[in-house]
Amino acid sequence: MANNLLAGKKGIIFGALNEQSIAWKVAEKAHEQGAEFVLTNAPIAMRMGEINGLAEKTGSKVIPADATSIEDLEKLISESMGILGGKIDFILHSIGMSVNVRKGKHYTSENYDFTMKGFDVSALSFHKVMQTAMNMDAMNEWGSILALSYIAAQRVFPDYNDMADNKAYLESIARSFGYHYGVKKNVRVNTISQSPTMTTAGSGVKGFNEFISFSEKMSPLGNADASACADYCISLFSDLTKYVTMQNLYHDGGFSNTGVTQEVIEKFSN
Ligand SMILES: NC(=O)c1ccc[n+]([C@@H]2O[C@H](COP(=O)([O-])OP(=O)(O)OC[C@H]3O[C@@H](n4cnc5c(N)ncnc54)[C@H](O)[C@@H]3O)[C@@H](O)[C@H]2O)c1
Repeated sequence: MANNLLAGKKGIIFGALNEQSIAWKVAEKAHEQGAEFVLTNAPIAMRMGEINGLAEKTGSKVIPADATSIEDLEKLISESMGILGGKIDFILHSIGMSVNVRKGKHYTSENYDFTMKGFDVSALSFHKVMQTAMNMDAMNEWGSILALSYIAAQRVFPDYNDMADNKAYLESIARSFGYHYGVKKNVRVNTISQSPTMTTAGSGVKGFNEFISFSEKMSPLGNADASACADYCISLFSDLTKYVTMQNLYHDGGFSNTGVTQEVIEKFSN
């Protein structure tokens, strides 16, 4: 379904780790829709080299960058503008990681060094990316910047742990920075609140398989998969959504507005 929605647009895509990654699907679809972009990920995430296959397939260059390092971000943005031959039209921030989750630390006994690290990677990095881009005047007018969130920012999902707090902060950054980037440059900033999705980051959450099944039954349209999420990202990078900004946009098959479904009720009938 290539309609050239992103013809002539240049972007930076953070977070394609492997074929399951949401960012991977976004890169494939952005390429199909005529965009040119640079792929980036943390240097350590490139050990397996999977990203090189994606780069080859989409005709893009790969620049390693730790999204928490201003120095890395400045280098990434300046080299990207060189490679792409001008300013940037879209950025995807598809980054998340909690050390507490990884190390099995319960929410009520967090290791605060782990908490700070996860916060820096999952939330503050979004601010760092935008502040660096703004300082370098790297975005074109009417550009679009997106990050990915989860409904645990609004409601409690106990095993999502400190990532819930990181997502709440991430969504707040989208609103606050979206205001300033809008006024300054007509750049829009949004978060997409995505259904649970089977990826490396997702499957790190305890009980994820059961959780995906529950969410499937609680969503009138079922869970949205990574490929559908990528379609939504493309629409938000396109000129068809120029006045959508400072929003947290649910892409969840209706989960967020559902109290209960017949399927779930039937599980409890005697
Ligand atoms: N999978 C889900 O269920 C789900 C649901 C809603 C939102 N999300 C969000 O979607 C985004 C993408 O996650 P995913 O599910 O595709 O998993 P993923 O594991 O494929 O992607 C996470 C990415 O973050 C990158 N990353 C970690 N530390 C980094 C750093 N310091 N600098 C740069 N990159 C770094 C990883 O290398 C990886 O590529 C995350 O923000 C995640 O929280 C995921």
